[in-house]
Amino acid sequence: MKMKMKSVREILNGDVVNRDELLVLLKATDSDLTALFEKAAEVKEKYVGNVVYYRGLIEYSNMCSKDCYYCGVRNSNSNFSRYSLTDEEVVESALFAYNNKYASIVIQSGERQDSNFVNTISKLIRKIHEATNNELRITLSLGEQSYNTYKQWFDAGVQRYLLRLETSNKELYKRLHPEDGHHTFDNRMQSLMYLRELGYQCGTGVMVGLPFQTLEDLADDLILFRRMGFHMFGLGPYIEHVETPLYQYSSSLLSRNARLDLALKMVAIIRILMKDVNIAATTAMQAIDPLGRERAIKVGANVIMPNLTPVKYREDYKLYEDKPCMDEDADKCKSCLEMRIKSTGNKIGYGSWGDSKRYTDGN
Ligand code: 5AD
Ligand code: FES
Repeated sequence: MKMKMKSVREILNGDVVNRDELLVLLKATDSDLTALFEKAAEVKEKYVGNVVYYRGLIEYSNMCSKDCYYCGVRNSNSNFSRYSLTDEEVVESALFAYNNKYASIVIQSGERQDSNFVNTISKLIRKIHEATNNELRITLSLGEQSYNTYKQWFDAGVQRYLLRLETSNKELYKRLHPEDGHHTFDNRMQSLMYLRELGYQCGTGVMVGLPFQTLEDLADDLILFRRMGFHMFGLGPYIEHVETPLYQYSSSLLSRNARLDLALKMVAIIRILMKDVNIAATTAMQAIDPLGRERAIKVGANVIMPNLTPVKYREDYKLYEDKPCMDEDADKCKSCLEMRIKSTGNKIGYGSWGDSKRYTDGN
C-alpha cells in the first residue's frame, strides 16, 4: 500500500529524509513556502547565528581553457578582452579586505592548469600571507586541478576551495558541457574528492533553473550534497548569456523570478538539511532581484562576497548577463552592503574568519 505523502508542515516538524519529501518542499507555495522559509531562518539562528561573514572576491583572470556551454567567459567567446590582474593588484585587493576586517578573501578565475598559472597562484598566496600577517583566510575558486596542484596550494596556505558541481545529473551535465574528455562529470567529482581528501573546507553548488533541469534533479543535488558532507554551498539562478551555446534554449526556461524563487528554496532546504554549514548569498541572485541576496540571508544564507576586483576589469568578468555592481568600487560597496545586511536583522562578522562550523566541529 502506498503511504500518504506528508504535508510541508509535517516534513518540517520531523527530519527531512527522503527524495519525495524534498520534492514536496521544492514545490511549496503560499503559506507552505512561508513555513519553509521561517523554519530555515529558525535553524540558521539556532546553529550559526544571525551573522553574515564577508569573503572579498578577487576575480583574478577571465582567461579560461574551458568551454562550458553556459558561461560568458568560455574559451570560444572572443567578444571581449582577456585580462589577468597584476601581482600588485591582487595584493592590494587582499589588503583592502584585511584593512577593512573582512578576514577572508576568495580568488576566482577562469580555469587554467598550465604550470605557469599554478605557480603564479602559489606565489600570490605567499605574497598575500606576507602582506597580511598570515591573518587572512584564503579561498580558491580555480576549477578542476590535479591532486598535486590542489596539494601545492593547500601547502602554500589555502584553507578553502569552491568548486560547483553545477548539477548532479550526469546526463544534464553532458548537455551543459562539450564532450571532449575535459569536461566530464567524473572529473568534476574526482576533483571534489581530492579536495575533501586533502582537508580543504570544501564548497560546492549548482545552478538552478537550467534548461532541461527538473525538480527531481534538484532533489538529487540536495541528497548528494548531504551524502558527500560538503562544508559550504554557493548556488544561484542560471542566467542566460547571449554569447553562449545554451542561449538557444532560453525560451524553454522558467521566468527569471521563478529561477530565483527556486534558488531561494534550495538555500532554505540546505540550511534545514545541513544546519551548521556556510551558505553564500550569491551575486546571480542580485542580478535578478536587487534584493536577491538579502532575501537569501533571511532564509538561511550567512556568507556574502563583496567584489574587490579593480573596477576597470569588471566588465570583462561577465559569466552571465546583467551582473550587478559593475562600477562600484570596493569602498562604495562597503557602505552599501552594510546597510543591506542591517536591513535583514543580521550582524556582519567583521574580523572573524567565519569558518564553516560543519568543518571546525568535524561533522
Ligand atoms: N548563470 C549563472 N551562473 C553561472 N555560472 C557560470 N555561468 C553562469 C550563468 N550563465 C556560475 C557557475 C560557475 C560559477 C563560477 O559561476 O556555477 O561554477
Ligand atoms: Fe571556464 Fe567553464 S567556461 S570553467
